[in-house]
Amino acid sequence: MEGLNLSAHSVVAPEGSTNQATDVSRSLPPETWGLTRAEGGLCLEGKPLAGLTERWGSPLFVVHAARLAENVRRFQQVPRGQSRGVEVYYSYKTNPIPAVLQKLSRLGVGAEVVSPYELWLAMRLGVAPGNIIYNGPGKTPDFARKLVQSELLLTHLNHREEIALLAQAATELGKRPNVGIRLATSDSWSGKFGVPIAGGQALAAYEEALSHPSLRVVGLHAHRGVAIQDADTLERFLREVLEFCDTLHARLGLDLEFLDLGGSLAVPTVLPLDDSPLPLAERVRRRLSIERYLELLVESVEDHFRRAGRPTPRILLEPGRALTGNTQMLLCRVNSLNAAGKGPAHAILDAGENIAHILHREYHEIFHAERWGESPSEPYTLDGPTCSPMDSLRASIELPRLRLGDTLAIMDAGAYLVSFSNSFCFPQPGIVVLEQGRETLVRRAETYEDMVDRDLYANEVSR
Ligand SMILES: Cc1ncc(COP(=O)(O)O)c(C=O)c1O
Repeated sequence: MEGLNLSAHSVVAPEGSTNQATDVSRSLPPETWGLTRAEGGLCLEGKPLAGLTERWGSPLFVVHAARLAENVRRFQQVPRGQSRGVEVYYSYKTNPIPAVLQKLSRLGVGAEVVSPYELWLAMRLGVAPGNIIYNGPGKTPDFARKLVQSELLLTHLNHREEIALLAQAATELGKRPNVGIRLATSDSWSGKFGVPIAGGQALAAYEEALSHPSLRVVGLHAHRGVAIQDADTLERFLREVLEFCDTLHARLGLDLEFLDLGGSLAVPTVLPLDDSPLPLAERVRRRLSIERYLELLVESVEDHFRRAGRPTPRILLEPGRALTGNTQMLLCRVNSLNAAGKGPAHAILDAGENIAHILHREYHEIFHAERWGESPSEPYTLDGPTCSPMDSLRASIELPRLRLGDTLAIMDAGAYLVSFSNSFCFPQPGIVVLEQGRETLVRRAETYEDMVDRDLYANEVSR
């Protein structure tokens, strides 16, 4: 995955590859993320990034509250030429930091949850049941009862077996929950997710659901899963879903109240690790912005139902990465340098795949916090601290000559980093929210005691 020609600042070809070292002038500027350059290096809201790690420790997640609020506003706006927009339900699993989730809730964003824990968390944060959507496979009979009792906006049934399960729970409790069925389109995640439209399977599932008087069959769920990066992909996905809405109307007389189109919009500055010869900035420019995505999506749905002469359902979205990905960064330090052997020197960081595993699949911009842009730069391999040969974040990157203790900033760390962090050999980082120049620690770094706190034997011997 690392032998890739991402023509960007700080990316060079690994040894043995035909790819060329790249031109720093074509980098994405730090200003893309609201960073500024000053004496002390790169700053966010006037605060040098390196100073943040001095005060709060390293590694450290930093949430940029203004950017989070800005992304929410972008998702909530009514697209040009339309009379209404979409309703936004944040995908909790994408970045389950309670302080972030609470901010989103206060900004009018609902919760999309996929596990009993996430449902508990949303309720504990005070999210009203009418602002919660439940998704996810693997519902048990006990949990089906809990879902029915909770009176959520919508519970999506992942596959056919869940229809009878929820209907039974609803009958027992004398309630009638709002349900939708998760579809698998021809290009979405499938397997354990959803009922395929193909072969009439989804239609049969709706027919079965409608036969249960204890269910209010009012919704449809379609989450592509595979990232939506361009207009053509979005259009293909929507066409299939909208045609299925027509089938439901024609065959079952069913007009849905809720069209839940999931998440999957890509973060423009996070790129797949592939062989594209295009310069980084050009690839980013071609990505769908939140505004363009909403314009295309709302227009397609509205047009479709207008032409069909049927009322447009409420459009629900469950963005994850596109809402929070670029609102957070991971700061880490160079702990050690190993220049032995062939190829670039290995810079061993205090954060690796234990925190940023997703860098194995995605290109994220990485800046030197104190001396960004300083030349001459040198090639390095960025490795994590764990004693695992897999623990490498970037095979080759050009950075100013590194010194021990230097701070690096891994950008776009607001999606699927905190969720997938683990305590493999090292404790997990703290999290600071930066809001109007004020720093608030919202999660302290894990301690060694935290790491053995649930371990009954460790607690026993320490007494
Ligand atoms: C059902 C569902 N909705 C929304 C999301 C958020 O997806 P993304 O982060 O790609 O927007 C996910 C994540 O995979 C999901 O499984």
